[in-house]
Amino acid sequence: MLQFMLLSLLFFQVVHIAGVPLQTPIIPMYACSSVDFYSPLLGGGSMLDNGEPLNVIISALSTPEVLTEDGIINFAKAIGFSEECLDIHLGAPQSANLGDGNGWVNQTIELRQYYGNSEIGTCLETLIGGNHFRVFDQNGPDAPSGALFLAVSQEEDLEEAHTVIPDGYDIGRDKLVKAAIGTTHFDGVTYFTTARNLTGLLAAGSIGVNHGIATDGITTLLTVTIVDDFQ
Ligand SMILES: *[C@@H]1O[C@H](CO)[C@@H](O)[C@H](O)[C@H]1NC(C)=O
Ligand SMILES: *[C@@H]1O[C@H](CO)[C@@H](O)[C@H](O)[C@H]1NC(C)=O
Repeated sequence: MLQFMLLSLLFFQVVHIAGVPLQTPIIPMYACSSVDFYSPLLGGGSMLDNGEPLNVIISALSTPEVLTEDGIINFAKAIGFSEECLDIHLGAPQSANLGDGNGWVNQTIELRQYYGNSEIGTCLETLIGGNHFRVFDQNGPDAPSGALFLAVSQEEDLEEAHTVIPDGYDIGRDKLVKAAIGTTHFDGVTYFTTARNLTGLLAAGSIGVNHGIATDGITTLLTVTIVDDFQ
């Protein structure tokens, strides 16, 4: 209810500022979001998927193109990730409830760190371990921010059955964020990314977290802007 009121207020303000009649629909809402994201906790959701912390959020204030499936894949490639190794899926997909009215939904996509510039590189990651993340889209009717919630972790190699290393959630997050900050580019697209740490979304510690791995409770908010470089 509170959320609905906030949303209505937001809607009214957008309409008011734009000076257009209230009846004018503004669609799609996420294409002109004025919030970074909505807290899943306000909508009965959770900052844990089936046991992994959602420890990075790509802000809805990022360039809208980044928040699409193709867009996040290209950005991921710019910071050293690729699509999963030859579609080999190790482990079940995870699901998350972002409090947006969609309930528990499966990840949109899973990306792994790649070593070198080929699909074989991603296979190598599958064999020797590395950083990986799953993506969840906050796009349900109750909280359609368009923000992307990421569950990032650093894994052991295949022999260790892809278990997350000790501190693997914090380490995975920090590695991804470090690779993302500042200017990056892939396939002709240049990104400028800023980061801000948020507390109070995730509880620090290991309650509800897979393998009892404790985390520091920090979620890093990334704002990714596509930069035009007039070359
Ligand atoms: C999630 O994926 C699993 C495995 O592919 C499938 O069985 C399940 O129905 C999916 N759940 C949703 C909510 O789509
Ligand atoms: C966020 O917190 C991590 C862990 O404490 C730290 O390494 C990182 O520098 C912080 N990042 C920002 C942008 O404050």
